[in-house]
Amino acid sequence: MSAPNADLYDVIARRRDVRAEFNGGPLDPVVLDRILHAAHAAPSVGHSQPWDFVLVRDPATRDRFAEHVADERATFADSLPEERRRTFDRIKVEGVRESGLGVVVTYDPDRGGPHVLGRHAIADAGLYSTCLAIQNLWLAATAEGIGVGWVSFYREEFLQDLLGIPERVRPVAWLCVGPVTHLEEVPDLERHRWRQRRPLTEAVHHETYRR
Ligand SMILES: Cc1cc2nc3c(=O)[nH]c(=O)nc-3n(C[C@H](O)[C@H](O)[C@H](O)COP(=O)(O)O)c2cc1C
Repeated sequence: MSAPNADLYDVIARRRDVRAEFNGGPLDPVVLDRILHAAHAAPSVGHSQPWDFVLVRDPATRDRFAEHVADERATFADSLPEERRRTFDRIKVEGVRESGLGVVVTYDPDRGGPHVLGRHAIADAGLYSTCLAIQNLWLAATAEGIGVGWVSFYREEFLQDLLGIPERVRPVAWLCVGPVTHLEEVPDLERHRWRQRRPLTEAVHHETYRR
């Protein structure tokens, strides 16, 4: 049996969703290029490579997005029962301004033409592919000591309008990307007692889904 690649497992274990730990420092363009190459090396249904990466550095654009995220955060907070709301109030959900760079990852369902091999029965397979590019980006950034925070507190139409994204193209994630002071060992949502990790034994099923 071959030995596991310890470095990869280590990166997977160290990866964190970063919100508060961005240090505001510059991101080396060579490092960013390596991270984007890793994202672009992801597998995709029918090799359609349906992703694009919009790099957002303009502080004015990031300000506008951060304001929109604050509105959406308030909308979610208003939907919560009192006790959950008190917990949520302590949780930071984005580092849009602090991170210095936003990488908006989009999904184009038309990429690859009308006959995407492997997508005829499962339309979402294109979206899955885009998420794999995001995960590659996230792990590569972690290996480089760079933080990534996924922000989904936004309306897709708002982001399409803000960045000139065509209607058919879906913005899948705003990723806050930048150098960090450190990576936390425990996910923020666990530290703040929002939700704990399920034991693996609960997630693994044998032979059928039903137990
Ligand atoms: C699809 C997706 C959307 C997410 N959206 C947000 C978000 O809007 N704000 C946030 O703070 N974290 C967001 N996260 C990060 C999760 O909260 C985080 O991955 C989870 O709590 C586990 O923590 P870890 O990534 O540090 O292991 C998102 C993650 C995913 C995969």
